[in-house]
Amino acid sequence: MLISRDQVLDPDIGLHGALFGGGMMARMDKVAAITASLLSRNRRFVTLKVSELVFHSPVHPGEILEFHAAVAHQGRTSMAIQIEVQVYAPVTDVRRDVTSGEFVMVAVDEAGHSEAILWKQEALRSASAPRPGRGDGA
Ligand SMILES: CC(C)(COP(=O)(O)OP(=O)(O)OC[C@H]1O[C@@H](n2cnc3c(N)ncnc32)[C@H](O)[C@@H]1OP(=O)(O)O)[C@@H](O)C(=O)NCCC(=O)NCCS
Repeated sequence: MLISRDQVLDPDIGLHGALFGGGMMARMDKVAAITASLLSRNRRFVTLKVSELVFHSPVHPGEILEFHAAVAHQGRTSMAIQIEVQVYAPVTDVRRDVTSGEFVMVAVDEAGHSEAILWKQEALRSASAPRPGRGDGA
């Protein structure tokens, strides 16, 4: 499901004229936390693990990012969220894949101990819907 959109600005750019990788990782981590909150009734999630983070294509200033998320694994206190980031060009409706990665989020109580996830079944169904392919409209 589409979680959010964001635009890349000049201050986000690293040494090689493209989006700094750490900036992309921070945005994806925030999207993983938002996704976990949307899918459950738990108040707090923390990131436990990030894996298979791949930067497929550089991102340039002015480009619009789209963050798509799907649940890759449902655990008792954790969920693995697959995040696919695409650049979307509104003029042509063309998309290109730029970054992907899997984030394991754990629900925690006030003391920071893991707790059972209270799933929202309807939100889970939309989280398993396919993301748009390249060239699809918004
Ligand atoms: C997340 C945290 C609360 C988990 O604590 P813990 O003692 O390992 O908790 P548990 O043993 O109950 O495991 C919690 C869940 O993580 C899963 N898990 C633990 N290690 C894992 C790993 N290496 N890979 C995938 N899942 C893992 C467990 O299977 C469990 O999920 P489940 O209930 O769905 O099966 C603790 O590690 C923590 O606070 N980490 C720091 C988080 C943080 O600060 N993140 C921000 C980074 S700057």
